[in-house]
Amino acid sequence: MNILVTGGAGFIGSHTLIELYKAGHTALVVDNLCNSNPEALRRVAELIGIDAIPFIKADIRDSKALDSIFSANHFDAVIHFAGLKAVGESVEKPLEYYDNNVNGTLVLLDAMRRHGCKNIIFSSSATVYGDPAEIPITESCPKGQCTNPYGQTKSIIEQILTDLQVADPQWNIVLLRYFNPIGAHPSGRIGENPNGIPNNLMPYITQVAVGKREYLGIFGNDYPTPDGTGIRDYIHVCDLASAHIAALKPIEQKTGLNIYNIGTGHGYSVLDVVKAFIRVNGVDIPYRIMPRRAGDIATCYCNPAKANREIGWKAQFTLDDMCRDAWHWQHANPNGY
Ligand code: NAD
Ligand code: UD1
Repeated sequence: MNILVTGGAGFIGSHTLIELYKAGHTALVVDNLCNSNPEALRRVAELIGIDAIPFIKADIRDSKALDSIFSANHFDAVIHFAGLKAVGESVEKPLEYYDNNVNGTLVLLDAMRRHGCKNIIFSSSATVYGDPAEIPITESCPKGQCTNPYGQTKSIIEQILTDLQVADPQWNIVLLRYFNPIGAHPSGRIGENPNGIPNNLMPYITQVAVGKREYLGIFGNDYPTPDGTGIRDYIHVCDLASAHIAALKPIEQKTGLNIYNIGTGHGYSVLDVVKAFIRVNGVDIPYRIMPRRAGDIATCYCNPAKANREIGWKAQFTLDDMCRDAWHWQHANPNGY
């Protein structure tokens, strides 16, 4: 298939491009580079063994740019990664988040409809479950109250896509609810490249390991979990990438709307991750217990059985693999791209 990949220069998009080409697909990337570096695409091409990944620098809110891209190319499907994702920033800049994520998706969907491409895989998040009503979380678990505008944008976009598919059953839509992607390509050539102080756990740990930060702050050790720290379903970014290739199956089979949890089904605490990182990589991670972070929940992990049953996808990498590959990337690229 020929796939339009929005946000393809980013963390998850760049890893997904490798899996797409490995599976025999081709892609064109649209990205405005607001949170990424074109060097990622250069390295992706190098890893795949092609000259370059077709790339157009454009904003998905630019309807004219999308029109010319769709007029000049035939796409079998769109994988839609483009979006802003920093939870704290979304609280400070809600309008920017609603505009970029929700309005951006509306402009994209309108262009797709006008050009007759009605197949899309959307990057959703476990955040749509809020404080989950059941653990492990299945797809039938009700969506919850999101505590921040970022989460709201995911929930709203899911609703828009659901309504669209009801209105026009020709649309084939897959909502992938990612749990916590970490790690990097085993080559160490591409990985997560956050701007400024990392918000998320693994990039913070690797920056402590590489000497850029003095210690890790652990946000609370009084949660109702075995060691008191928060539990999450960490998934290797390459496993997450391969889920997108599996998700092309229901698109090809034209089965309408499908929703899948994409996680490993295992919950690890913050201390589990820190200890695994130290053990696997032989580097120390000094840490201090800090107050809880606003909006955090105690435990979040999924039951990924539906994705296994229906699209034949299952995570392969372990937490040790995630720690090894995250460190390999950071160690080889201490300042990112
Ligand atoms: P990322 O920031 O690395 O990648 C997003 C890409 O989209 C970037 O390259 C950015 O430049 C681009 N982009 C943003 N707004 C754009 C616009 N208006 N037009 C064109 N390009 C635009 O983030 P990521 O971690 O790769 O996440 C990809 C998607 O997955 C996002 O939608 C994110 O919300 C979602 N997601 C991520 C996580 C996670 O933990 N990383 C978890 C759940 C869901
Ligand atoms: C966060 C977002 C979520 C988003 C996801 C991926 C919040 C509340 N949720 O998920 O919406 O989809 O990122 O981008 O921000 N931790 C520390 N110290 C740190 C960083 C994190 O102790 O410096 C802890 C957290 O308290 C949590 C765990 O590590 O228990 C994982 O945190 P993080 O990586 O930020 O992911 P989530 O909070 O699960």
